Amino acid sequence: MAKPDLMERVVNLCKRRGLVFPSSEIYGGFRSTWDYGPLGVLLKRNVKDAWWREMVQLRDDVVGLDSAILMHPRVWEASGHVQAFTDPLVDCRNCKERFRADHLPESGACPNCGATGSFTEARQFHLMFKTNVGPVEDEGSVAYLRPETAQGIFVNFLNVQTTTRKKPPFGIAQIGKAFRNEITPGNFIFRTREFEVMEMEYFVPPEDGARWYEYWCQERLRWFVDLGIPEDQLRLRPHDAEELSHYSAGTSDVEYLYPWGWGELEGIANRTDYDLTRHAEFSGQDLSFYDQEADRRYVPHVIEPALGADRCMLAFLLAAYHEEEVRGEKRTLLRLDPRLAPIAIAVLPLSRNERLNPVAHEVADLLRPRFMIDVDDAGSIGRRYRRQDEVGTPLCVTVDFDTLDDRAVTVRDRDSMTQDRVPIDKLIDHVQERLPS
Ligand code: GAP
Repeated sequence: MAKPDLMERVVNLCKRRGLVFPSSEIYGGFRSTWDYGPLGVLLKRNVKDAWWREMVQLRDDVVGLDSAILMHPRVWEASGHVQAFTDPLVDCRNCKERFRADHLPESGACPNCGATGSFTEARQFHLMFKTNVGPVEDEGSVAYLRPETAQGIFVNFLNVQTTTRKKPPFGIAQIGKAFRNEITPGNFIFRTREFEVMEMEYFVPPEDGARWYEYWCQERLRWFVDLGIPEDQLRLRPHDAEELSHYSAGTSDVEYLYPWGWGELEGIANRTDYDLTRHAEFSGQDLSFYDQEADRRYVPHVIEPALGADRCMLAFLLAAYHEEEVRGEKRTLLRLDPRLAPIAIAVLPLSRNERLNPVAHEVADLLRPRFMIDVDDAGSIGRRYRRQDEVGTPLCVTVDFDTLDDRAVTVRDRDSMTQDRVPIDKLIDHVQERLPS
């Protein structure tokens, strides 16, 4: 399939099947903001759960946090955001559109109107959203919507370290909304002004920074492959010196091969002791760690893997989208890993029938406490299988008239389309084997 078609088809599928809608759509939408519908919210939640499981639940060296979006304005001075969180912006004198200077095509032509030599000099444009807290709108009440969750972690370093009694190396993970007044949002949910970010700050002894940076680059790459993104659609790209953020001693992007080319999926940065040192300076609090065993005090260095949940969901959707021909008909399917699929199991009574209905509900009630299920009895069974394939449901359980006699159901696999007859009292074991957690 041609790459531009792939993007268009995934976007259409998301709209048609209730994964993602344009925000405020009845008012004509609102500037690249998106709402997640019933299936989209399940998919995004599964992406976040998979990340949390990997980064927190399966490790004994990482704990979680949920810090406030609104923080003391000094936080953003200490972090360097007030001074340096900007993008270079140019205007096209011909069509008046604005672009990021570092995203312009090499030809120098305006991507909107095609004019050449029409750009103004680059100006720095601030990306943080400003607001006011309290009843008075003046300079003293200014606050920012956080552009990353990382700072909430740094300012809680002492709280978490002392209450958990963790010693470096250890990490603090957080998932939450972030806001950036992007000059050129776009490509659907790839770049938006409001998004969710999944970040982990891993605090290590200074001399171990380089080793842990390498470790996290490899770990994060492996996670995407484990969840079904083909290896040849992923690569690690180290930033060169001019590209590095103000705080970084080394950054690599996990890049994905999007339909428009290679682009950032996740960033892994070696932030050194920049953040803790700056917050210590600005707050007057000692944020160093005393290592009792070695009898030495140091400011930990930080390795940070940071990934957008929305962008990550887009990559999983693009990688999972397939079309194939089955008996002369087009079949669209999302080959999502079962851990990510919005619906794990669809329960399908063969037809709307008063004798089948109670058994279908019995099967649904059996599965519901353990799995996200959908009960669908509208239309032919073939069409219902296709509807489930299209949203990536790994298993369909069909209740038919034989079920009334043999107390068995048919379990149909999304990818192979093979069908197994399974007794209802063995159904939980059977599906549990097929749907790993
Ligand atoms: N604390 C480090 C940090 O915020 P970043 O590379 O600016 O690093 C982390 O952002 C990740 O968040 C990116 O790799 C990307 O997945 C996601 N992201 C960044 N800006 C985004 C935007 N405007 N829309 C959607 N996702 C975004």
